Amino acid sequence: MMDALGTPQTLLLLGGTSDIAVSIAKRYAADRPLTVVLAARPTERRSAVAAELGTVGCTVREVDFDAVDHASHRATVEAAFAEGDIDIAVVAFGLLGDAEQAWQDPELALELAQVNYTAPVHVGVLLAEQMKAQRHGSIVALSSVAGERVRRSNFVYGSTKAGMDGFYTGLGYALDQYGVHVLVVRPGFVKSKMTEGMAAAPLATTPDEVAELTVKAVRGKKSTIWAPPLFRLVMLVLKAIPTAIFRKLSF
Ligand SMILES: NC(=O)c1ccc[n+]([C@@H]2O[C@H](COP(=O)([O-])OP(=O)(O)OC[C@H]3O[C@@H](n4cnc5c(N)ncnc54)[C@H](OP(=O)(O)O)[C@@H]3O)[C@@H](O)[C@H]2O)c1
Repeated sequence: MMDALGTPQTLLLLGGTSDIAVSIAKRYAADRPLTVVLAARPTERRSAVAAELGTVGCTVREVDFDAVDHASHRATVEAAFAEGDIDIAVVAFGLLGDAEQAWQDPELALELAQVNYTAPVHVGVLLAEQMKAQRHGSIVALSSVAGERVRRSNFVYGSTKAGMDGFYTGLGYALDQYGVHVLVVRPGFVKSKMTEGMAAAPLATTPDEVAELTVKAVRGKKSTIWAPPLFRLVMLVLKAIPTAIFRKLSF
């Protein structure tokens, strides 16, 4: 159970090797001993993250998770909850891909849709099942401002995030009556391994900053946040731009 200050004892990271997810775990581990269920593909990176979280006082349990292997999702989620309640589950896995390739390569478009939309929906329903039964907990979904108004420059990725954002927003409404909270996080450009080698966009932020805002928002039981917060205003303005103009913008 979360303590009176909203700090969890158990944290499930789906896409456990994500830089943002790791920062969230470290941020919570700074406050109290934490058990982390690291659900990710069995790679050297997963082992390295498990070792890294061990050095900051986390007890880590590794569970196999592959977003495109839909048939395995139930077993993954059940394994994660097998040793007791999960206080917070973070849906962190995601793929950016090359934007121009994505709308012209059916296989890449399909992979983005599966990793960023189909799998989050499937996993979200499975998490909801578990959290409804335990009657407490928070689900944190890492969405993106890219889904809030889909732009020409990355519309395949943006469309998948629009879908997953809508799903988790609705899931929050549905789970409210069961004492389960859902937070949708909409970061802008985050300097993580996902954006390695790319020029930083305006208002670029870091995994640690996203983690700090996420922890605060889970404590405050917020339903949506932007990272950095100024993006909320930026998106309001962007959403007000008429389509005839918006479609010609280059960003
Ligand atoms: N970075 C940004 O600018 C930004 C902005 C807005 C939103 N976001 C979102 O924030 C989330 C976390 O991103 P991040 O910045 O922390 O990037 P990241 O470090 O690249 O994390 C993404 C994670 O997704 C996992 N993943 C990809 N395909 C998978 C699959 N088929 N099965 C299981 N896991 C898979 C990767 O795991 P492996 O280690 O197995 O490859 C990777 O650890 C993503 O959903 C992303 O879309 C990021």
